[in-house]
Amino acid sequence: MTDELLSVVVRKRVQHTEGVVSLELVDPQGKALPVFEAGAHIDLHLGDNLVRQYSLCNDPADSSFYQVGVLKDPSSRGGSVAVHERLHEGTTLQISAPRNLFPLAEHAGHSVLIGGGIGITPMIAMAYALHAAGKPFDLYYCGRSRSTCAFVDDLAGSAFADRVHFHFDDEHGGTRVDLDAVFARAESDSHLYTCGPNGFMEWVMSTARDKGFPEARIHKEFFQVEVETGGEAFEVYAEASGVTVTVQPDETIAQALNKAGLKIKVSCEQGTCGTCLCDVLEGIPDHRDVFLTDEEKEDNDQMLICCSRAKSPRLVLDI
Ligand code: FES
Repeated sequence: MTDELLSVVVRKRVQHTEGVVSLELVDPQGKALPVFEAGAHIDLHLGDNLVRQYSLCNDPADSSFYQVGVLKDPSSRGGSVAVHERLHEGTTLQISAPRNLFPLAEHAGHSVLIGGGIGITPMIAMAYALHAAGKPFDLYYCGRSRSTCAFVDDLAGSAFADRVHFHFDDEHGGTRVDLDAVFARAESDSHLYTCGPNGFMEWVMSTARDKGFPEARIHKEFFQVEVETGGEAFEVYAEASGVTVTVQPDETIAQALNKAGLKIKVSCEQGTCGTCLCDVLEGIPDHRDVFLTDEEKEDNDQMLICCSRAKSPRLVLDI
């Protein structure tokens, strides 16, 4: 992973539905961009300190451009609205190099990809990669209606269209996809990948667990979470910097440290991307992220400081 930012220009913008645009980003001089793996995302730097992550959804074999799909979320904290309002064909912006926190499992026999709404985006790149590798997979694209879902025509016309299963609730009498049937067709070496609204993902994952999917074969990518905020004030000692701060109830550890002059890198600010992960040297974190696994949280030796707080009056962090 590199921290170096890349300058790119929007080569093409497509309004797929009323709420979803896709952007193709290219190097201004036409050079190839860094290669990426299926499941990877990039940070878009949107101005006014807004940095947001979006999954890459084009074929990973083609690094001449990156494609992202962005749903305009009226309840967003500004990121998706900024994409829709500020990024047009010809706009130059800065992005991070691709990072992959949602990789395909190398040794999966069969892959079940289930995307809900705009959560389809990482699944599209995964489908390209699996198809190119000749690996068996099924892609389920679930949404409320065909008219609000992007990339439907692209998937229907793809080289792997026979592996794509669409389920639009309004075409099935308002019923959700039959996950029991989906998982009944899964194989003993199947891996599940899911991305979409939180309630949808919870439903997919809990059904998979009920059907006997072990946790190690369930892979998920959150793109929006509700972070519990607030709590008691506590003290943080950043040992490597020799700085002590009091984190007030209405601020995060990252904000308190930034105020004290430390440069703390954050991105999603909701505990999903891992950018602000740091080691805990003393004290008990109050984990509020969805990035660490339950086992990692129990170890209490690392934490995400954009959202997690403290159960003990004092934390010592390796910052
Ligand atoms: S900034 Fe993304 S997890 Fe903290």
